Amino acid sequence: MVLVIYESLFGNARTIATAVAAGLRGRAGDGGDGDVAVVDVGGAPTILDTDVRLLVVGGPNHQFGMTRPASRRQAIRDFGADTSEVGLREWLSHLAPTRTGCGVAVFETRLDRGLLRRIDQTTRTAERRLRAFGYTPIAPAEHFFVQSITGPLLAGESDRATRWGRTLAEHPSFNP
Ligand SMILES: Cc1cc2nc3c(=O)[nH]c(=O)nc-3n(C[C@H](O)[C@H](O)[C@H](O)COP(=O)(O)O)c2cc1C
Repeated sequence: MVLVIYESLFGNARTIATAVAAGLRGRAGDGGDGDVAVVDVGGAPTILDTDVRLLVVGGPNHQFGMTRPASRRQAIRDFGADTSEVGLREWLSHLAPTRTGCGVAVFETRLDRGLLRRIDQTTRTAERRLRAFGYTPIAPAEHFFVQSITGPLLAGESDRATRWGRTLAEHPSFNP
């Protein structure tokens, strides 16, 4: 199965996670929809079942990185965000090493499309941690763009996420 784990304060990364799952569905295994689960990071497992063949992990960029308690508090205070105590950063620090060499793909949602994206640490940090725990990136990290801090996503981003999901499902690890 495929597990899509997301963090989202205003719903944009959740929309992307759902769209990626739509692209993955029907392709990543034989059993149809049940093979792809979309899970909020607040309720995400830290020990993955051995039948998880691909982990997709994504969330918002806050100040050049994954969210932190202070940035989440700021999002609640200044923008009325809805958020839990656990972000991707905290979840990753508790995630158990993979016992199966599970594949992984990482995405972020963010504002800036320009040069800032290239020097950014969000997806790189997540990938580095996942690699250290034995997970194997199967595709370059993907970046999806919002119009403003609370969203919405730029036009076409949700469809692009579904296409990305399809490409992930076409990876040789699903098509031996
Ligand atoms: C405290 C805070 C800091 C942020 N810092 C950045 C930033 O450095 N670069 C950027 O592109 N977007 C930044 N953003 C915008 C977020 O990336 C945007 O709110 C997020 O992608 C929306 O996704 P979500 O609805 O899933 O939370 C920031 C947002 C907040 C609330």
